[in-house]
Amino acid sequence: GNVHYYDFVLKEANFTRLCSSKSMLVVNEQYPGPVIRVTKGDIVYVNVHNQGDYGVTIHWHGVHQPRNPWSDGPEYITQCPIEPASNFTYEVIFSDEEGTLWWHAHSDWTRASVHGAIVALPNNETGYPFPQPDGEEIIVFGSWYKGDVNKEVAEDLEDGDLTPSSDAYTINGQPGDFCPCSNESTYRWQVDYGKTYLLRLVNAVMNVELYFAIAQHNLTVVGLDGSYLKPIVTDFVMLSTGQTMDILVTANQPLGRYYMAARQYDSVRSDVTDYDKANATAILEYRDNYTYSSTPIFPSSLPTYEDFDPAINFTYRFRSLASQNHPVNIPKNITTRMYLTVSVNNVIFDYEGTSKTNLAASFNNVSWINPSTDVLLAYYRNMSGFYTTDFPNYPPSFFDFIADDVSDDKTLTVQGTKVKVLNYNEEVEIVLQDTNVFDGSEDHPVHLHGYTFYVVGSGYGNFDNETDPKGYNLVDPPKMNTVSVPKDGWVALRFKASNPGVWFFHCHFERHISWGMVTVFIVKNGGTLETSIRDPPPYLPPCKSSSW
Ligand code: C2O
Ligand code: CU
Repeated sequence: GNVHYYDFVLKEANFTRLCSSKSMLVVNEQYPGPVIRVTKGDIVYVNVHNQGDYGVTIHWHGVHQPRNPWSDGPEYITQCPIEPASNFTYEVIFSDEEGTLWWHAHSDWTRASVHGAIVALPNNETGYPFPQPDGEEIIVFGSWYKGDVNKEVAEDLEDGDLTPSSDAYTINGQPGDFCPCSNESTYRWQVDYGKTYLLRLVNAVMNVELYFAIAQHNLTVVGLDGSYLKPIVTDFVMLSTGQTMDILVTANQPLGRYYMAARQYDSVRSDVTDYDKANATAILEYRDNYTYSSTPIFPSSLPTYEDFDPAINFTYRFRSLASQNHPVNIPKNITTRMYLTVSVNNVIFDYEGTSKTNLAASFNNVSWINPSTDVLLAYYRNMSGFYTTDFPNYPPSFFDFIADDVSDDKTLTVQGTKVKVLNYNEEVEIVLQDTNVFDGSEDHPVHLHGYTFYVVGSGYGNFDNETDPKGYNLVDPPKMNTVSVPKDGWVALRFKASNPGVWFFHCHFERHISWGMVTVFIVKNGGTLETSIRDPPPYLPPCKSSSW
């Protein structure tokens, strides 16, 4: 593969949206940030210069980074933050990824303004598994906050309050026509009649899933999370935050202007409370000489925010290509099986000598606490005291997880830095079960670093260990790095632990990360000291309270 070099300068810059201005941290003065463009198998060096006011890390979402957790990015998991006035060079190693991925800050809520797309092209010999498109377009969905979101989050967490809602969603940085003071700057995509485009979607919003549609244009979904799918023809798509999607669009409608719109799909809690503003819009515009009406056509196929079934029915259609060039390799001799409940619940903790109750979020009633030195370094240097290896703690006590009357005390969470150790090449199955504690059942887009996994099954209700595995798709299940655990339901995923390292596993809703819906898998292929992962880079951002 080829080698590419990028410089990312992190710096505050001024932006005006929704009739007000603010300064926020961005990369190279861009929101969204620069696109990284590679061919399958390339290596990218990204030198991140932090000229901001606080520590930051960057993650390359969906890039497997074989044996290279050092450059994966999540703070206190694989590194400590890059402090202001310092820099760190990430070595981003591509292997089998093809399609659209993305990068984002992985520290506090900084990813709201620090994110961008990654394009991994197929190599020339193989090409796309569909006719070469005539052009392409990248669409990044974001969350816009009028205020300083990191500051607000810190205060809310301290007070035990709900985290802030965004003020709008954006398409390539712009909220669009339906939002105040946004008409002029609405993002425009110009197309030529008769051409077919590859549309690359990145859902970088903070706390919701999105529906997306283009008025009167069919969408043919051909890729998801950096892997190909059997084509799905649809008039809308649903993306969880964290997911990326490749879609073919043919400009075959009467010359004119058409809205492209994204709307939150809200399984429990809205993130933009004014639903007029919850439509981010951009305009698809045919290039040519013609007169058009001033109001573009709005996509009638876009489901409303309460529509639950279209989301689930759409995701049920995902199938891997499972072809000769893009084979599937589904683990069939499972050696580690984890059944994990996914909950928002309460934690009782000691606060300056008195016991205090706060909201928390958890896998299997374990709510993550960041260590002071990152898990990777502690593991690599064999330093004790930074984490324990007792995740998932204990098997969940079985009850009706989605009943209306799940008592809150049943699922009181414990806090800890509990990781799961997996041996190299183990075949792993994880069943994630949503729960209705606090009447809080909702979708959870769960993401695994370092891997893509096969989603072999999903369904409503409580997972049934007798009957549900019989319905697994072991022929052409989709490969994903972020899967939505459906509200009041479950998903089953499988992967082979073939990438040694320290890998983050978490809900991609930022508010749930803040509340601890997070754990870590250490994939171990060494003796007492890990020798199978790459050597650490010569310079690692120091951990402030590191003891070595
Ligand atoms: Cu895109 Cu750990 O996340
Ligand atoms: Cu969640």
